[in-house]
Amino acid sequence: MLINKNINKASTLPGIFYSTEEYFNKSKKIFENTWQLITDDSFLQENSTAFPFFYLENFIDEPLVLISNKEKKINCFSNVCTHRGNILVEKPCSLKSNLQCRYHGRKFSLDGKCTFMPKFDDVEGFPSKCDNLTKIPISKWRQFIFCSLNNTNSLNTFFSEMEKRIGWMPIEQFKYSGSLSRDYYVKSNWALYCDNYLEGFHIPFVHEGLSKHFQYNDYSVETFPFSSLQLGVGKDSKNCFDLPQDSVDYGKNILAYYFWVFPNMMFNFYPWGLSINIVKPISKDLTKIEFKSYVWDESKLSQGAGSDLDKVEKEDEEIVELVQKGVASRYYDKGRFSPSMEQGVHHFHRLISDFI
Ligand code: FES
Ligand SMILES: [Fe+2]
Repeated sequence: MLINKNINKASTLPGIFYSTEEYFNKSKKIFENTWQLITDDSFLQENSTAFPFFYLENFIDEPLVLISNKEKKINCFSNVCTHRGNILVEKPCSLKSNLQCRYHGRKFSLDGKCTFMPKFDDVEGFPSKCDNLTKIPISKWRQFIFCSLNNTNSLNTFFSEMEKRIGWMPIEQFKYSGSLSRDYYVKSNWALYCDNYLEGFHIPFVHEGLSKHFQYNDYSVETFPFSSLQLGVGKDSKNCFDLPQDSVDYGKNILAYYFWVFPNMMFNFYPWGLSINIVKPISKDLTKIEFKSYVWDESKLSQGAGSDLDKVEKEDEEIVELVQKGVASRYYDKGRFSPSMEQGVHHFHRLISDFI
């Protein structure tokens, strides 16, 4: 599935990428070799706490657990007891001085070391290294904790461009809002949902309300090694960011920064704060989208391009679900790109083709 480097010559990924089990399973490789956003650090700021999760539930069901030890250092471990494989931590909790398996009582230190096991006195060479919990790579960007099953590239290579561009915002002070956060289920392949996000081409056709805010001809896309940025430019300064003078965007009317981080994360910055969307594959034609909202300035919530996100989301879902049916057609193979409007999609398809 080679995608030509030159967008003027390139074709899109073929329909079979989105519509077959074979390619759905192949795309697991992409997720194993990149980073997943797990949670922010609010719960784990306390020492001796544990936060269990699956790497990507229903897709890559690897049981893992984040543990904040006595010194508040956060590590990630396999959440599987090294005796006979019980799941160690079942829900977020505070721990005492150790972690104990509730099946036969094996204990682990908060640094993952096997420290005690009943009735094992005569077991030779016990405990050994392999009785400890396997440590999984984690990394942090601001308050967000990421983990990777196989971190071939550092988290920094995914986030450095975003940090450079919007690092002036006090992101650590943004407050998580449960009432503004929710999950959506879309009957489409995960990559189709990302394709749609990665171009503003469809905005005047699909989002009548939203398109009123934008200066369509000033739409721009910038691509970086593992991320890309779409700038939402306004017709005037109304509802735009109050940019600091040292920002490269100073003087522009920016309604929104739409940052996408490969393979499945969207960081949308609006004057009210940050909406993170995490795209989680479930099957070749079903995807969960987690919307997480972090509020910076509540008074701006109902203004501008970031005001009616639920309506925009439903408009996107409707069209993406239609496209899912279309790309499975025996009469559809692949399409071509608009060089001025679809650089983000082309960049995404090139990354997919590199990873699989
Ligand atoms: S499975 Fe954990 S102690 Fe037996
Ligand atoms: Fe859209």
